[in-house]
Amino acid sequence: MKKYNFYTLLLFCAVGVIILSSSINYQSLTYKKADSKFLQDTIKQVAWLAPASADSLKNPLTISQESISKGEELYNMYCFSCHGDTGYGDGPAGGSMGIRPANFHDQKVIKQKDGTLFWKLTNGKGNMPPFKEALTEEQRWQLIVFLRELGKTE
Ligand code: HEC
Repeated sequence: MKKYNFYTLLLFCAVGVIILSSSINYQSLTYKKADSKFLQDTIKQVAWLAPASADSLKNPLTISQESISKGEELYNMYCFSCHGDTGYGDGPAGGSMGIRPANFHDQKVIKQKDGTLFWKLTNGKGNMPPFKEALTEEQRWQLIVFLRELGKTE
């Protein structure tokens, strides 16, 4: 009888170990899943994506000295504090932000379509304010013209 109890105990231990190890595996699996979701969210957060429809927005303005200098004037009023005097994303107000203001000389910005940048400027995200209300559509396009000029310089 004593022997029988010993083997029962052993069996319980074995089953216990199996259950425990499978639950540990399960936990590390769910942790990995949560971790990759967290990463995906972070990537979405860092890579600011505009909806595909924004790509087809066309700049109605012609690129002229006038539209460039109008854009520059607006830039010096509304944008330089974060994006910097010359657009490197190094303005005095941008210093303490988690996600840094965009650098307009960076290929990541230059490669985006006018419509995409216009959409971002209109809607904002996080520390980047939306300019839908503050600026007219024409002013926002003037800014895009100016950002393109900034992007041409080193
Ligand atoms: C209060 C600070 C602040 C001001 C003022 C500001 N921005 Fe920004 N801007 C940011 C930040 C921060 C980001 C990055 C946001 C992100 O990626 O989450 C950004 C991103 C952008 C982007 C997107 C670039 C990209 O990486 O796709 C554009 C375009 C832009 N800003 C244009 C402007 C223009 C034009 C103005 C002026 C009318 C302006 N911003 C004013 C903080 C600012």
